[in-house]
Amino acid sequence: MKFQGSLAVVAAAAATLVEVAQAHCYIYSVYVNGVDTGTFQGIRTPAYNGPAPYGYANGPVKDLDSIDMRCNVLGDHQVPHTIQVKPGDNLTMDWHHDARTATDDVIASSHHGPAMVYLSPDPPADNSFVKIWEEGKFAEGVGALAPGKWATTADIAANSGKMNVRVPQGLKAGFYLLRAEMIGLHEAEVSYQKNPIRGAQFYPNCIQLEVQGDGEVELPEGVSFPGAYKWDDPGVVYDVYCSTKTTTTAPCATAYQIPGPTVWSGAWPATPSVALGPMTGATRAAATWDTWIVKSVVTSASAGKVLGTSTYEAQWSSTYHAPTPTA
Ligand SMILES: *[C@@H]1O[C@H](CO)[C@@H](O)[C@H](O)[C@H]1NC(C)=O
Repeated sequence: MKFQGSLAVVAAAAATLVEVAQAHCYIYSVYVNGVDTGTFQGIRTPAYNGPAPYGYANGPVKDLDSIDMRCNVLGDHQVPHTIQVKPGDNLTMDWHHDARTATDDVIASSHHGPAMVYLSPDPPADNSFVKIWEEGKFAEGVGALAPGKWATTADIAANSGKMNVRVPQGLKAGFYLLRAEMIGLHEAEVSYQKNPIRGAQFYPNCIQLEVQGDGEVELPEGVSFPGAYKWDDPGVVYDVYCSTKTTTTAPCATAYQIPGPTVWSGAWPATPSVALGPMTGATRAAATWDTWIVKSVVTSASAGKVLGTSTYEAQWSSTYHAPTPTA
């Protein structure tokens, strides 16, 4: 009996773990002017953070000082395809969590927070990330247990994972990394630095772009990742549920300040949502379970059997190299 009881406890704990794991999201595809460029094409999908079936490749980064803040874990690894665009093109990122379907919940309903898009030459350098779009809290909550309306949950998830941004007018041709980001603030009433089991959850995901044409506009100086966000930023430590507390003594912050720099004046003021074509295009195979990375330790496995471990250290190049095409 006692044995059965503890099994039930273990099962319940495992169920909670899976729920937590399933709360996360990343980008499955990018549409250019409504045309789907293909699942996982040109997208630097993060590494798995544990073995099958509990690890997942869509986990958050929580340490602001980590290189993973740049493009998530494995963000330095190029993918074979690069998405070709022109200034003025309308891009639609398709964020999901379990599957690229209309019924997928995109991100857990508790993960309220801002969303933003940065652009950097590829590879990034010091202060090379320029913010071209952002959205934070756009409506106050009304009544109890009402965190308000946020970019992640009330806009992107409500629109089946679609995040819109436009390639800046006249942008100079070249290779760029688009860094799209969602932030979950559901545990952000304290910083990860003060309490590592809580803190804001960052979901950066980078896309390889080649801008074509004869544009002459260069990106201005931007910010660095890591570096752009600080442990005491009011946009990083923020209690989304504060307004729901009845016992609080300190007044709640209602206005929300999105972290990072202001949006570049050269970015488009409006980000239209364009009509999207069907989900077609080539599909790059999703990462397999043969490797996962936990606290920089890379574990390699085959058919569930661990083969060995090594240490992962991001290796960002300082010059652009064309990615190796797939065999
Ligand atoms: C992008 O969207 C805007 C606004 O809807 C539209 O005017 C423009 O023509 C679109 N750009 C392209 C290249 O389709």
